[in-house]
Amino acid sequence: MKELIGRQLKKDVLSNFGLILIRRHTILNETHIDKLMSHNIVLSLNDVEAPQTPGEVREKLVSEATDEIREVFKSLNLDKPVSIKEVSQDLFPTMNQFTEELDLFGLLSGIQAKDDYTYRHNIGVGVISTMIGKWVKLSHDELQLLTLAATLHDVGKVKIPEEVLNKPGKFTDKEYELMKNHTVYGYEILQKADVTDPRLALVALQHHERTNGKGYPNGIGGHKMDYFSKIVAVADVFHAMTSKRVYREAVPFYEVVKQLNSSKFGELDPEITSVFLQNIMTISIGNGVILNDGRKAKVVFVHPKDPIRPLIDVDGQFVDLSKDDRVQIMKIVG
Ligand SMILES: [Fe+2]
Repeated sequence: MKELIGRQLKKDVLSNFGLILIRRHTILNETHIDKLMSHNIVLSLNDVEAPQTPGEVREKLVSEATDEIREVFKSLNLDKPVSIKEVSQDLFPTMNQFTEELDLFGLLSGIQAKDDYTYRHNIGVGVISTMIGKWVKLSHDELQLLTLAATLHDVGKVKIPEEVLNKPGKFTDKEYELMKNHTVYGYEILQKADVTDPRLALVALQHHERTNGKGYPNGIGGHKMDYFSKIVAVADVFHAMTSKRVYREAVPFYEVVKQLNSSKFGELDPEITSVFLQNIMTISIGNGVILNDGRKAKVVFVHPKDPIRPLIDVDGQFVDLSKDDRVQIMKIVG
């Protein structure tokens, strides 16, 4: 099987007990081949393909996960029985693979919604919520439940007519009221699921609630919101704003972090939002950025008390964004 070294697996390789031995898209090396041989597994050239770039692999994984979510949502809409337990078994390895990726900003742009907003958005919110869950140090079991709840948070949208969902313009009051129902529909759908933890359905119900009580559907305040719902609310706002929609372009990065930062004074949970902004900005250190005047720069230092306005290096000159608000970060690149 030495001829397979350097080629990429098309599918997961399972042991005789059904456990994943080597994940799909892995580029095989000598150790992998030894592992396969020790399990008496023989692969051929049909099981592998030429290696792809990390970006191509990511895009493939995002599309596969999106397709899976689309199928799940459609089955649920037709009242076909769907095992959420099985869905989660398929999804966890992929979602985990995403959150372990080192090129976080590449990943964030990879999970930006394209034409299939409704489905990609759920994957995007699943990934971002999982990252937040790791940053706030949830236990393994809690993290798995959060990933699942976040990935299914908008499942109630299957009950909203397509023409309202994908309307290119602003909603009328009546359409907005209709749209809001996706939270209650999601709650009803997930209450019947085979994963019996009530938090799964609660996240679908509460992710548009706000800590100041001005959210929907019930206008409950932060003290009544589940902690998972608060995490998903932050991830939802971030992913929605950074995605291109039928009626607007993606919002520039500085605008998104600025809005998130101001939302922590009332709408979003202040602690979760701070953890998110602090981590995402710290990860950006060393990354290239595009400024609002088109110049390229690099993030050099993130102020712990003001993470959204870092110190950047523009053509060898340091610019402190906390002191100069004419310069803004439009986009963070790899
Ligand atoms: Fe939603």
